[in-house]
Amino acid sequence: MKRDYGLEIWGDDNFIVDGDVVKVNYGCRPSLLDLTRDIRSRGYRGPILLRFPHLVRKQVEKLFSEFDRARREFGYNGGFHAVFPLKVNQYPAFVDSISALSDEYRYGLEAGSKAELIIAMARTPRGAPITVNGFKDKEMISLAFIAAKSGHDITVTIEGINELETILELNREFNSDCEKPITPKIGMRIRLHSSGIGIWAKSGGYGSKFGLTSTELLEAYEMLKREKLLDAFSMIHFHIGSQMGEIAPLKKALREAGNIYAELKKRGAEALKQINIGGGLAVEYGQHQHNIDRNYSIKEFANDVIFLMGEISRSKGVDEPDIFTESGRFVAASHAVLIAPVLELFSQEYHARSLRLKDKNPPLVEELNDLYNSITRANAREYLHDALDHMESLLTLFDLGYIDLEDRSNSEILVHLIVKRAVELLGNEDTSELRRIQSRIQEKYLVNFSIFQSLPDMWGLGQHFPVMPIHKLSEKPSRSASIWDITCDSDGEIAFDQDAPLLLHDVDVEKEEYFLGFFLIGAYQEVLGMRHNLFTHPTEAIVDFGDGGECTVSGILEAQNLLDILDDLDYDTGLIDKTLKSNIEDSTLMSESEKQDMLGKLYLYMSENSYLKTILSSEYRNAEG
Ligand SMILES: Cc1ncc(COP(=O)(O)O)c(C=O)c1O
Repeated sequence: MKRDYGLEIWGDDNFIVDGDVVKVNYGCRPSLLDLTRDIRSRGYRGPILLRFPHLVRKQVEKLFSEFDRARREFGYNGGFHAVFPLKVNQYPAFVDSISALSDEYRYGLEAGSKAELIIAMARTPRGAPITVNGFKDKEMISLAFIAAKSGHDITVTIEGINELETILELNREFNSDCEKPITPKIGMRIRLHSSGIGIWAKSGGYGSKFGLTSTELLEAYEMLKREKLLDAFSMIHFHIGSQMGEIAPLKKALREAGNIYAELKKRGAEALKQINIGGGLAVEYGQHQHNIDRNYSIKEFANDVIFLMGEISRSKGVDEPDIFTESGRFVAASHAVLIAPVLELFSQEYHARSLRLKDKNPPLVEELNDLYNSITRANAREYLHDALDHMESLLTLFDLGYIDLEDRSNSEILVHLIVKRAVELLGNEDTSELRRIQSRIQEKYLVNFSIFQSLPDMWGLGQHFPVMPIHKLSEKPSRSASIWDITCDSDGEIAFDQDAPLLLHDVDVEKEEYFLGFFLIGAYQEVLGMRHNLFTHPTEAIVDFGDGGECTVSGILEAQNLLDILDDLDYDTGLIDKTLKSNIEDSTLMSESEKQDMLGKLYLYMSENSYLKTILSSEYRNAEG
């Protein structure tokens, strides 16, 4: 069953299917279902975002160990350093898991705005590096001076000559009268002619938003020399775009950057010791072999960086630079999984029990009923064609007023049942017709989450994220599925894709729970998430493992309640509270006891979050206790 969801492609051994459930492949191997039920048993409903700090550690260890291995293998004399780019995930519970590794690896943080810089200054231990990228004003650069003077190892990457002018001006302000002049280290972002590949490729190339052209680089170099600040110039930086699916553009960019480094060294930039290769290291999101996202491994990535930098440095007779990375997606993506309950299957109304057959039905409806009752493996294809043909005729008859609404409803149900049955009977045949028909009878799964909030890159850029049920995996999934979120927006859909089909189980959600897991959502999604329809960041929880492998769930942070959401939008929530209360109290339509009841309900609902409650029949709820 594992193969249906491509776990072996995107899972990186982080999760395993054991029996009929997905388990965390670590420590005591808890199932995602047990973790979800544990959290739900504490009263939390709606989607739940699970964080796994051990997966952050795994990725950081992998990053450092692969570069160390490559350095040893190629006899490379430069060092290796890394920072985590905060733009990828600034959530405190995630940043905690980065901070937990800072001392051990001297793993620092990268900031791209003033607010991120404050986080970096507060959460990076001295000795671990901080880098500052993006457009900066005088205040932002002043903050970097404050950080440097507080003992931080901070590098400000300049994106344009005007930023360098501000640094020089601030250097005079901060250092002219002091005993110990201290300046942040200076990096220069270079505008490569090499560009990346894929959806995020715009960060590199001549047309990119960032970086200095070679003319500006030379100008900046001369400015530093004139100001006697060349000893602060320690880094050159480039970033050719996130989720670089192929390795070739990186090699090209490395050659270009390596030669710029060597040229600047030969010109006299003695303090220049680091090449910052930015991010871009890709994550495998693909669920099907023919649809994979990445054509290289971390090993190949590290080998290429170290080998090429070594080769260029040797041939140009300069010291090998320290390599600096700002990989974000690679470090953060796997640590977060969203578990969301399915609320409804939309075509369940196409059930035999919903038929309203009359004593005398129109002939085509009678014929559909006969087809349904006599379909077999041998006649399935023929009956399928007949049913689809009859449906067209019946819809025309309805438009012309010859059949009534009940006849139309019966036709829709019968055709749906025949197609479903034919697809089951012909299940082993993989023809394009069958795939087309599967997509036609796809089931719509209404899932309690917001795509805009939890998978914004899927909505905005069409980025795929792995999705699979976290249980029932010993049963064969039979329904071609498309997923609808609960926003009031038809874009809130993961449409069925014939070329990368998602099959889910035919469950009756009034009788049993059904949970889907959305994986690899720890990079960018949380912070880019939009509050469309005022669905907020989901309830989150941290899953930790002790030394003995035991697992604990902590740090549960519930999604914001309704009034807090409005408060965030600067509504006067006191006034809202007062208005709603007096509307009930002044109403002439209710008795006193009804009013008390309404007030109780109002305050209860306002204290809850905006996600829906899973709809379960009372029978099931009783069984659940
Ligand atoms: C300058 C810089 N460094 C690092 C990154 C992180 O890239 P990734 O998440 O692909 O590793 C970005 C993201 O776009 C970036 O702009």
